[in-house]
Amino acid sequence: MEKKRGDWQKARNTPAGKETNAPLGVFVLEYDASNEDVEKTRNWKPIIKIAVSGAAGMISNHLLFKIASGEVFGPDQPVALRLLGSERSQVALEGVAMELEDCLFPLLREVDIGIDARKVFEDADWALLIGAKPRGPGMERGDLLEMNGGIFAEQGKALNDVAKKTCKVMVVGNPCNTNALICMANAPNLDKRNFHALTRLDENRAKCQLALKAGVFYETVSNVTIWGNHSTTQVPDFVNAKIGGERCTDVIDDQGWLENDFTPAIQTRGGLLIKKWGRSSAASTAVSIADAIKALVTPTKEGDWFSTAVITDGNPYGIQEGLVFSMPCRSNGDGSYEIVEGLKINDWLRERIKKSEEELAGERSCVAHLMGVSGGACPILEDTLLPGEM
Ligand code: LMR
Repeated sequence: MEKKRGDWQKARNTPAGKETNAPLGVFVLEYDASNEDVEKTRNWKPIIKIAVSGAAGMISNHLLFKIASGEVFGPDQPVALRLLGSERSQVALEGVAMELEDCLFPLLREVDIGIDARKVFEDADWALLIGAKPRGPGMERGDLLEMNGGIFAEQGKALNDVAKKTCKVMVVGNPCNTNALICMANAPNLDKRNFHALTRLDENRAKCQLALKAGVFYETVSNVTIWGNHSTTQVPDFVNAKIGGERCTDVIDDQGWLENDFTPAIQTRGGLLIKKWGRSSAASTAVSIADAIKALVTPTKEGDWFSTAVITDGNPYGIQEGLVFSMPCRSNGDGSYEIVEGLKINDWLRERIKKSEEELAGERSCVAHLMGVSGGACPILEDTLLPGEM
């Protein structure tokens, strides 16, 4: 017998926490185009499954609606959203699913919610790992690495066991570079090159500040690289950036500002936002996740590049292997990327890139046990994380 949407809802609309062998579901729309406007759906691509952790949080609350609307994966890409929450957030997660339902997004074909990563990540084409504990007052950097690292080790194992082998993983929860590395180490079935840590937010911040200084619209700023860690050691590269196709350093003829104002402003902008909001950036982070995904699923403009933190193995800049490090990348639009070679690395950049590399190597040492490596010693890390949430 043909199932109607109402039947599905009756079957699946059970209180979160009660289901045993299926992801907790609020609703499931069947992907059956036979009774739809065929003209509209004929050229649609096959549905993709997008798993999102921290789905009841602020960032997701901005991001999910962008994804469901088609803004991120395109107007011909139907999506299934698989939302991962925690025991604490599972009722809120039902609220999120209800709001998604109420939006009547044509491309949104399925929403499932759950608190077990092994169920929620099943057959995922993308995993957007947003959920992480924010640093509480008095918590040291090492504590945060340990606490969130444990989450990402578990999620890596779950992805390894149940996600598609081609699954692309975008890590947002901080400290995102090292969390991505831990996740990767626990998911050997997935290609290391499918893991990203989000530095697109830093790139967007840098573009805006350069545009404001130059008195131009930010669309004209291109070729901005964020090198390294998503921490205050990150290096926003004004040396290779362009404004209106010209060298940024020719348009902004103020080396003092670029080195001493612009650079620290980008490195610490997330912290300043936490001070003002009392919580981390959410809307701009969601926009930058959307930008980071779009950068991988659409071809990069000729001559330009984008920043994303990826595995350093085989990189052309001499950064030590086995780190997740932000670098300039291009994509042909099929979800893959290549690192752009040949950027000019002057002494100023080299010295700072090295510092971020050392920081990431130190972080890796601290979490060696979470990566299945024994004997890692945890150096005392300079505190370059952003302040804890209030
Ligand atoms: C940001 O850059 O705004 C966030 O990553 C800050 C944070 O620590 O959550």
